[in-house]
Amino acid sequence: MIHKNASSAIGIVDLGGQYCHLIARRLRDLRINADILSPELPAEELREYAGIILSGGPSSVYDSASPSVDPRIIELGSPVLGICYGHQLLAMHLGAEVKPGEREFGLSRLAITEGDSLFRDTPAIQKVWMSHSDSVDSLPPNLLPLATTERCGVAAFADLNRRLFGVQFHPEVTHSEHGLAILRNFGIGVCGINPDVSATTRLAGLEEEIREKVGTRSVFFLVSGGVDSSVAFALCARALPASRMLGLYVDTGLMREGETEELQQSFRHLGLSEQLRVRDESERFLRSLEGVADPEKKRRIIGRLFVEVQEEAMREYGIEGTKWLLGQGTIYPDTIESGGTAGRAAVIKTHHNRCAEVVALLEKGQVIEPLAEFYKDEVREVGRELGLEPALTNRWPFPGPGLAIRILCNKARSERPVRRVRLANDFAEYRAVRLPLKSVGVQGDGRTYRDVVALDGPLDYAKLHRISSDLCNLRTSFNRVVVRIAGKWDLLKARVYPSALTRERLAKLRRADWITRSVMHDAGMTDSVWQFPVILLPVGRKGGDSVVLRPVNSVDGMTANFAQLPFEALNTMAKRIVRVPGVEAVFLDCTDKPPSTIEWE
Ligand code: XMP
Repeated sequence: MIHKNASSAIGIVDLGGQYCHLIARRLRDLRINADILSPELPAEELREYAGIILSGGPSSVYDSASPSVDPRIIELGSPVLGICYGHQLLAMHLGAEVKPGEREFGLSRLAITEGDSLFRDTPAIQKVWMSHSDSVDSLPPNLLPLATTERCGVAAFADLNRRLFGVQFHPEVTHSEHGLAILRNFGIGVCGINPDVSATTRLAGLEEEIREKVGTRSVFFLVSGGVDSSVAFALCARALPASRMLGLYVDTGLMREGETEELQQSFRHLGLSEQLRVRDESERFLRSLEGVADPEKKRRIIGRLFVEVQEEAMREYGIEGTKWLLGQGTIYPDTIESGGTAGRAAVIKTHHNRCAEVVALLEKGQVIEPLAEFYKDEVREVGRELGLEPALTNRWPFPGPGLAIRILCNKARSERPVRRVRLANDFAEYRAVRLPLKSVGVQGDGRTYRDVVALDGPLDYAKLHRISSDLCNLRTSFNRVVVRIAGKWDLLKARVYPSALTRERLAKLRRADWITRSVMHDAGMTDSVWQFPVILLPVGRKGGDSVVLRPVNSVDGMTANFAQLPFEALNTMAKRIVRVPGVEAVFLDCTDKPPSTIEWE
């Protein structure tokens, strides 16, 4: 789709690079609109754009199957910036030689020889991210070399008169330390685009796109309480009249403390409560989960109930036929993941947003996903611009099945006793026991379901890390290690009690989770971790439970490190949580993913 205001936007020709979408995202950071375009478009169709970027690509310019662009774009008079493969393609069209050889992957040191134009206000030496096997070898006299690296003679060039530029590195990835400044110099400096600084204009643009897509139809949304669906719903609700917009939030009884109320309050505050229906289905969910201990079975029951409730509600509200679109909070990484990245999180997300029914609707053009181009941090920003409460926009990711998969259940009193685990001599200050309680892990190619090791000893993160990786890598019976941070009793006396998913245990976990969130919030540390599950284990000495804190750092949830929080904050949480009635101990999970997963089930 060509941008309506192409004269103030950049056209990005997609030559197949994995970072192509990221170029558009970085330009959005600079408040510059951009369209991603097919390389097959004839040059005339690109005439309106204030500038053109040729993206990177996996190909070699000499490969006959390589994508190319209409060479007449050089004659349009518009500024052009070629990146990586685009740089080589542009150089070749301008008469330069491209040669295979001198591969460069990762960080390189760029030395700038011509600091004006593209590199204005950036240092003469800077780090850039390279990923190429071919390179531009020599330039014809009308082209000016701008920069070199140790392995790449022409790391950047320009034809300043015609405003044509090429860079071998990737300014769009954050590893290129001045990449954003280089894109700014091109977009604003060279192309003369006025950044669209007004946030309201950005929202107005998004709303206009929604109105265009929806036409005279209406939109039905399932709102989960998470950031993405809340922001997508709020955007649509602002764009459309209340009578053509309906959101359904199902209270499963498995949400965290205050979550349902916060969501309602946030929408009330925006004047959107009329469009949001809340159905209390907690009785139904909890009844169906009674006596179920197997994690996958819990997930299947919850998934089925969601579909049932949604179908019932739609029948009740008269939502049928082609007059309705289904609204979803899908974001860009979900789309990449559903394109085939392996891993359970990916599959789960694909399952939610790309189940068979949704795919059928997508094919009929009956789905609207206003955030499909955005990354999580941008969604949070749009949410803030919309006026959603920070408590909602800054929320840590929360799994669809909610607290149900954070409360471990045990059908019968475990037959297996707690046993001491021997540690290497280096760790003499620790005592370790094997709890007869299994949690999920990911080791090698698959998921494992193995016992947990519990430690008593100092909170020395380096040592804990070594213990957990030794135990999980060298021994085949474990995939997770925790260290006790509150509760003083002999761990050899621990028992795994028969336990179910009851309202009482839910209330206990909610309390512990609420304490954790409050301490993190009050210490200004909410953003210092990526996610922070709090888990309830049927482990105690007197029939009570234990709480596990599981703060992690991650980029996408596929791999993660246990977060090494300051002792003081941990101590404050642990002391308060162990005072919650029925909680006998508090542990900290000190295992990375892999070998364990983020959640316990
Ligand atoms: P794991 O535990 O697999 O979690 O390391 C990775 C990420 O996925 C989330 N997660 C889920 N999300 N439904 C969801 O919507 C689920 O069943 C589910 N299980 C795990 C988890 O919270 C983490 O962010």
